[in-house]
Amino acid sequence: METLRGIVVVIHLIGFGTLFGAWAVEVYNRRMRVTPLMQIGLGIAALAGLILAIPFGIDYDLNYIKLGVKLLILIVIGALLGIGQARQRKEGAVPSAIFWSIGLLTLVNVCIAVLWR
Ligand code: HEM
Repeated sequence: METLRGIVVVIHLIGFGTLFGAWAVEVYNRRMRVTPLMQIGLGIAALAGLILAIPFGIDYDLNYIKLGVKLLILIVIGALLGIGQARQRKEGAVPSAIFWSIGLLTLVNVCIAVLWR
């Protein structure tokens, strides 16, 4: 069970890495666009995160306030990705506040995950 949980944590981290990596590529290339890879990463992180939040027979304390805050932030990131994509389609560019908030909120969630014990 411990190993299975570990595998889901790895998948969760792959999702986070995909989201943040795709965002960082846009910063590096000075394109600042919302890309489908960001949405895929968010989807993977969300699915694996929700599975990890199920308390199935583990000797491990789940902090549901922390998980609730992470879920809330993830939903906001998802909304920003959706709004950003729509604005990009209509106006050709993502408003910079939306683009930077996506990366910042992703980092906030990592800090919550690692620092909030
Ligand atoms: C963009 C969104 C998210 C990011 C960047 C993120 C990031 C991370 C990271 C870096 C870890 C490893 C921390 C460690 O083990 O020390 C982690 C663990 C975990 N995450 Fe997430 N996460 C996100 C969303 C979620 C959501 C929505 C849930 C569930 C509601 C969730 C549930 C968990 C759980 C249960 C763990 C295992 C360790 C723990 O209980 O804190 N995550 N997350």
